[in-house]
Amino acid sequence: MSKIKVAVFGCGAIAQRRHIPEYAENPNVELIAFADPVIERAREMAETYGGKAYSSYEELLANEKPDAVSVCAPNDLHAPMSIAAANAGAHVLVEKPMAGTEEEAKRMIEAAAGNGVYLMVAHNQRLMPPHVKAKELLDSGKLGRVLTFRTAFGHPGPEGWSVDGRDSWFFRKKDAIMGAMGDLGVHKSDLIRYLLGDEVAEVTGFIGTIHKEGTDVDDNAVCILRMKSGAIGTLTASWTQYKGGDNSTVLWCENGVLKIGTVNGDEVIVELTNGSVETYQVGAMATNEKQVPSGIIDAFVESIVTKTPPSISGEEGLRSLKVILAAFESQAMGQVIQLG
Ligand SMILES: NC(=O)c1ccc[n+]([C@@H]2O[C@H](COP(=O)([O-])OP(=O)(O)OC[C@H]3O[C@@H](n4cnc5c(N)ncnc54)[C@H](O)[C@@H]3O)[C@@H](O)[C@H]2O)c1
Repeated sequence: MSKIKVAVFGCGAIAQRRHIPEYAENPNVELIAFADPVIERAREMAETYGGKAYSSYEELLANEKPDAVSVCAPNDLHAPMSIAAANAGAHVLVEKPMAGTEEEAKRMIEAAAGNGVYLMVAHNQRLMPPHVKAKELLDSGKLGRVLTFRTAFGHPGPEGWSVDGRDSWFFRKKDAIMGAMGDLGVHKSDLIRYLLGDEVAEVTGFIGTIHKEGTDVDDNAVCILRMKSGAIGTLTASWTQYKGGDNSTVLWCENGVLKIGTVNGDEVIVELTNGSVETYQVGAMATNEKQVPSGIIDAFVESIVTKTPPSISGEEGLRSLKVILAAFESQAMGQVIQLG
């Protein structure tokens, strides 16, 4: 079988640390082109991994014929880049949040369907070993129904992550559309939907810019979610956890509690009401400091190779995005928002 020709739009932190190295490791892939307006970034990737460098993704698409594209650029570019790639006949793996609005996300889904290509959203939290284990335990039924939960994602902010540091697009609403909620909150709306196998029915959000200076996006959010099953929980996203960053989820169920990421070393803990305790050492969650393979790239390539639609589809990305957008609406209106 000939290799899948891949192009990468945006050669910043996530492309350099996860997408590009994971494509390079995949035997079914040939990296053919990179685009970044800071052309040195694209050139460095081309020199290291082979392929051509472009300063514009439109020019790349006019000159190359990729089978698949990774969209790793600022959030406002996710929709135009994904649609252009799909229209050029390429499968698309787009970073999260998949878009800034529901309309854009729908247009991306339509563009992929209309061109007969896959659209996958990089919700890699689903593939982290502690979350894979937690899903397996919840699906086994031993814990019974989830009744209440809390899920949180916080770190000191993207200035320590983005290739542009404090000057990053992450802090500009024009480019980022949203702050901590688009960076971290959407990971957790996706995770909760996935773990519970349930949809969010109602959302209330308290969202603000509490401490970051010179930014017009949110740096903190606390939301309350009511699921269709009736379960109630909280979702927290923060860019101001300068110490004690958090990527943990606790689910209180009929027969006990499931704790994910609360104790170093014991990534998943089950405490049952009958007194039994199970601890699972399945490997730590990736952090900005400690990268582990996301698994997302292999899953995307596997979809293409086996002609199987990706499970983390555009539709899934849209449902997770809608929860976050509803939280913003709740903050703006001072109301509880119902999701359809
Ligand atoms: N799934 C995850 O865990 C995860 C983690 C971090 C970031 N992300 C997402 O990845 C995306 C990129 O974030 P990042 O952390 O790599 O940011 P970054 O600031 O490190 O890099 C962004 C890159 O995009 C480039 N860019 C800007 N305009 C462009 C254009 N027109 N064409 C091509 N490239 C362009 C910039 O020059 C920069 O090199 C964001 O959507 C972010 O939310 C996802």
